[in-house]
Amino acid sequence: MSPSSTPTTEAPGVAPGGSIRVRIRRFDPSVDAAPRFESYEVPRTRLMRVLDVLDHVHEALGVDLGYRWLCTSKKCGTCAVNVNGSPVLACWEEAQDGMTIEPIGNMPVVRDLVTSRDGYEATLAAVAPQLQRREEYPGFPEPLAADDFAPSVHLRDCIQCLACQSVCPVIAQKDAGFAGPAVLVALAELALDPRDGAARGATAGSVAKVFSCVSCYECERVCPAEIPIVSEAIEPLKRLATAQGHVAGARRAAAFLAVVKERGFADGARVAFQLNGLTLRALRLGLRLFRRGKADILGAWRARRAPGADSVRRTYEHGEGSP
Ligand code: SF4
Ligand code: SF4
Ligand code: FES
Repeated sequence: MSPSSTPTTEAPGVAPGGSIRVRIRRFDPSVDAAPRFESYEVPRTRLMRVLDVLDHVHEALGVDLGYRWLCTSKKCGTCAVNVNGSPVLACWEEAQDGMTIEPIGNMPVVRDLVTSRDGYEATLAAVAPQLQRREEYPGFPEPLAADDFAPSVHLRDCIQCLACQSVCPVIAQKDAGFAGPAVLVALAELALDPRDGAARGATAGSVAKVFSCVSCYECERVCPAEIPIVSEAIEPLKRLATAQGHVAGARRAAAFLAVVKERGFADGARVAFQLNGLTLRALRLGLRLFRRGKADILGAWRARRAPGADSVRRTYEHGEGSP
């Protein structure tokens, strides 16, 4: 995260003077049948942020607009909104002429730009996000080594803005039961804490369903704190869950690994057969891929191996023996 607490850049075309036009999505589920967009003209000011625009619409234009903020300095994470389809912090994002402001996705709208955090908070509570000490608290000051906390140092920058949750395609599949990236960041922070003694691998695999993550990196793309969510939270949790034997939902990864170890290459058709079995649907899909030259159906059944397959297998086995 930027060490500065004051925005210092000026958006192109947002010099003081003149005005900008913005569109804001309005919706009160308790009275409106459907959302609508309203346009507003707002005077430009120096270093104008999206939050300044919302303040003007609310205070100067007298619009009963629902929006949320607290710190105005990229610390509290309450002000996330979508600007032109992408989640940003309203207090930090430069205002642009012609921008469209909407609530962030993947969570219910309370009113206008305010979304409910209830689902996130319930999921967070379910993963027990408190330190569970393996040894008794030694008293203040507790001797802590900086090196011991290096693996989780970036995770501590999370401001719980939920921008990452709002773009996760797996959360969008409501029946996936996936906790989501923000919850996994909180869980990983504890799992990587040397003082913690809870079975975080079990929680990651069974409660948070970490293996449902498809590593699309959308969460990292939008994180305003620039946290390496996949490599420093999700992947360590997957490793921990695997090491502790909680691999529910890791069927795809396990099948992929088994096929690469056996054949020395990622034989997609073989992985698909291993996962789905010989169903009519799988056969139809296989035939379609075969016609397009994208799958070798017969090869999937033959014990087809790449040159150097033994070397690939030995490399994997060596890796599995590593700490
Ligand atoms: S990980 Fe990043 S995007 Fe997600 S809640 Fe934390 S700060 Fe926001
Ligand atoms: S990388 Fe995983 S957690 Fe992040 S958005 Fe993609 S599926 Fe969701
Ligand atoms: S108002 Fe606190 S992060 Fe934007």
